[in-house]
Amino acid sequence: MRLDFTTLAAREAYQWMVTTIMPRPIAWASTISAEGKTNLAPFSFFQGVCANPPTLMFCPVNNRQGGKKDTVRNIEAVPEFVINLVSHRLAEQMNACAALLPYGESEFEKFGIVSVPSDLVRPPRVAAAPVAFECRLDRIVNIGEGPLAAHVIFGRILAAHISDDVLGADGRPDAHKLDLVGRLGGDDYTTTRDTFSLERPD
Ligand SMILES: Cc1cc2nc3c(=O)[nH]c(=O)nc-3n(C[C@H](O)[C@H](O)[C@H](O)COP(=O)(O)O)c2cc1C
Repeated sequence: MRLDFTTLAAREAYQWMVTTIMPRPIAWASTISAEGKTNLAPFSFFQGVCANPPTLMFCPVNNRQGGKKDTVRNIEAVPEFVINLVSHRLAEQMNACAALLPYGESEFEKFGIVSVPSDLVRPPRVAAAPVAFECRLDRIVNIGEGPLAAHVIFGRILAAHISDDVLGADGRPDAHKLDLVGRLGGDDYTTTRDTFSLERPD
């Protein structure tokens, strides 16, 4: 089959994208409002960008009314965030944070997710996350307008907290121990427990 994305409705394009571009890592982003209220939300349009300088990105899209998500409103007010990675045992708490809460209501408090203060940024991090990146906003790039248009958030990585429990014999994170979840289409997920190796050509 062949799909013509130039004529697809945004909702339909979204469905085809999330059922083909997979598995997608999940950025569980903690942010804070100008009033000091914390927010925590998952985003699977997420990737590392480059290491010079260390940079990552994730993509909150506008809601169906065309409004900005709380994460974007907070980062515009306080340009700092933490990207927490999601292991399998945290998947249900992560998913709960996709609920629509009124602006200013904290997912940390609502869902009993334990936080710890960050070292360099104001939003706290998720205590149980195997990896958490403290980031300062680099820039926001707007793609499109209205419902489902994106505010691509680029963040400079200032520090990472990596649980000793996920380190392998070589001192680097081990995919099996990390047991991170990846998003597939619909309600489905995968984990980093299913791996294989390929030697890279010279
Ligand atoms: C696994 C998962 C991945 C998601 N990925 C995205 C995404 O990439 N972009 C997006 O805008 N929303 C995504 N969502 C939906 C947001 O998490 C949801 O809209 C959330 O309420 C936004 O929270 P906020 O308004 O507090 O920022 C995802 C939800 C889940 C469960």
